[in-house]
Amino acid sequence: MKTIELKELLMDMSVLEKIGQLVQFSGEFFESQDVTYGPQQKLGISQEIVDLAGSVLNVTGAETTRKIQMNQMAKQPHHIPMLFMSDIIYGYKTIYPNPLGLGATWNPELVAQACEMAAKEAAASGNHVTFAPMVDVIHDARWGRCLESPGEDPILNSSIAQAMVYGFQKNLSTGSGQIACLKHFAAYGGVEAGREYNTVDMSMSNLFQNYLPPYKAAIDAGCKMIMTSLSSLNGIPCTADSWLLKDILREKWGFDGVIISDYAAIRELVSHGVAIDNKEASLKALMAGVDIDMQSSCYSNELESLVTDGILDEDKITEAAWKVLKLKNELGLFENPFYGASKKLEDKNILSQENRKLARNLCEESLVLLKNDNNVLPLDITKKIALLGPYADCQDMLGMWAVHADNSKTVTLKDGIKKYLGSNLNCTKGVDLVDDIKYLQGMWDFTSEEVQDILSASKNNASEMNVALTLAKESDYVVIAVGEQSKESGEAASKTNLHLSDSQIELIDKVHKLNKKIVLIVISGRPLVLEDILEKVDALLYAWFPGTEAGDAIANILFGKVSPSGRLSISFPRNEGQLPIYYSQLPTGRPANSNSARFTSRYIDSQLDPLFPFGYGLSYSEVRYKDVQLSKATYSVDEELEIQITLVNEGVKSVKEVIQVYFNDPVASLSQPVKRLVAFKKVKVDAQKQYKLIISIPSYKLKFFNNKGDAVFEKGTFNIYVGRNVHDCIKLSCEYI
Ligand code: GLC
Repeated sequence: MKTIELKELLMDMSVLEKIGQLVQFSGEFFESQDVTYGPQQKLGISQEIVDLAGSVLNVTGAETTRKIQMNQMAKQPHHIPMLFMSDIIYGYKTIYPNPLGLGATWNPELVAQACEMAAKEAAASGNHVTFAPMVDVIHDARWGRCLESPGEDPILNSSIAQAMVYGFQKNLSTGSGQIACLKHFAAYGGVEAGREYNTVDMSMSNLFQNYLPPYKAAIDAGCKMIMTSLSSLNGIPCTADSWLLKDILREKWGFDGVIISDYAAIRELVSHGVAIDNKEASLKALMAGVDIDMQSSCYSNELESLVTDGILDEDKITEAAWKVLKLKNELGLFENPFYGASKKLEDKNILSQENRKLARNLCEESLVLLKNDNNVLPLDITKKIALLGPYADCQDMLGMWAVHADNSKTVTLKDGIKKYLGSNLNCTKGVDLVDDIKYLQGMWDFTSEEVQDILSASKNNASEMNVALTLAKESDYVVIAVGEQSKESGEAASKTNLHLSDSQIELIDKVHKLNKKIVLIVISGRPLVLEDILEKVDALLYAWFPGTEAGDAIANILFGKVSPSGRLSISFPRNEGQLPIYYSQLPTGRPANSNSARFTSRYIDSQLDPLFPFGYGLSYSEVRYKDVQLSKATYSVDEELEIQITLVNEGVKSVKEVIQVYFNDPVASLSQPVKRLVAFKKVKVDAQKQYKLIISIPSYKLKFFNNKGDAVFEKGTFNIYVGRNVHDCIKLSCEYI
């Protein structure tokens, strides 16, 4: 539709019609037959406003969305098509690893391809907007939403954010893309104590330096929507923060897309204590710049009376409605309200072999080999192998936010390993993922069948463990697959105990006592605390929630078809007491290491450094860094830093190496982190080959943000670190004059 026609439509709409464009309700408001007794009784909204709603949450399916779209448009005076929005965080039906695994690939190009694939699947099912990428920087593994974030570093998160926006939105014009809705703005990952929905409070330099860059990167990549965080920032809930949503987002960064609240976040302004009732909450949110109210009755029940009472200028509603109409028009919904919805395309695209292959490749690159004593991996297929543990033969490996996926499509570890070993594989669960049924039932509303399935081993208790130990005794190697139950990570899943369950630890311990070589595979949405079992295993492969192709991808790594190339995008703590832990810490006035004297910045009851550092990961050939040098020692501000590197693979396996470049500004007007990632590159290095490259870094990347939120560059000495992880680097120095 031409802009002039869209403007005419807008001018012709009643205030209630315009308010309708600003409200979003979940699927049951549109699918259940008798809506008068449906959920809106809980929200107290009228059928009139439901019929005018401009978007719907988490409804997919070509035929379902077409039916709902037709019904809704028929009810509307101006027949305005709805936007269908869903949580497609790491895949729609073909699920790839959760974003902490995507970060661990250090491969933005591959991540972009996966998002493009997810967008095609979702578009065929009638979806228009995905609530991704989530790029919240995270420093605390107690927070369940580590699952959804690429990790702890603003530069790596920015790279993944750009890749995801590019991948989702690439094919928007051809009906097979998705509008990317960036979240959660802003700094949700900084919740105090890793407790869900908790307070976020930080200095301006920390906010601008460490938390805002990934959102800015996504906006610079063209994302068209952004979701406000449920949390407050420095005392102001993000959903009512006009400094954040107007001064920064719109004015400073030039974002001109749509701002949607998170689920019921507008109503929650009352709980935050910044609004006395829904009316004041609605006024504050709209005046702060929130265009769409997701799943609350605020905008639908309060905005009209705010206008008639002369408190709110109707123009504010019109401005917000205009942004929503423009977005719909960009998608071409006025010409084709069904966008890409097509049963034929669904049948052709969804879970295709091509899509599965891409998910498998991504999963392979996300797996992080954290230990491999005596090169126990790759495994020898002629050996007898026992596969034990709750994840040995389990399809629930997709994680909490694979909301539209079907577990039954997942390739289990047993499936994948059998392709290599055939009948030479013995497999049994041995123990369950969780030991306490109350804990399990308290974390999610599982059905009784689901509870039975999750706790299937403990039903027969000791015998299951004995069967497992018998299989272990008969084998040369034991692969044990353990971890978190899939609902233990994700939203509202903060934990204070990050250890494996007691029975999983017991299984590892008992197999260890049999003097068997143990390969431990951990399935989890976040870093777990593994120091207590690390010495008992010979190899440790971290698999996150690996997705639909889990079994085949993990087997390809275990048997050496693919060399592991994942590197951690988050520091792994030795214990919960170290949290929050992250590598880019300030030096303090009394810098310490684990052997420092008493009066230094350390713990007296724990080592200081993480169990595994940021950027860490092993491979099947170690790559040597040779002739690492700067092109010169002194630079002027307009010159790029040039780093020459030669990689030498003296092993027998081709590998992919992640070269990481960090820097430190040792003397500045504001204390600077001991290291900050500034550049990285993932390169393939074939066996017995060497690979020479140059990494160039413009000086603006060495700026830091001060407490006014301004980026400043200060001349002087810079330490440059080049290596395979944040601790294992070659140090160089240069001077900016
Ligand atoms: C949830 C989450 C958000 C999600 C939204 C819609 O509360 O915070 O990430 O996209 O609601 O499901």
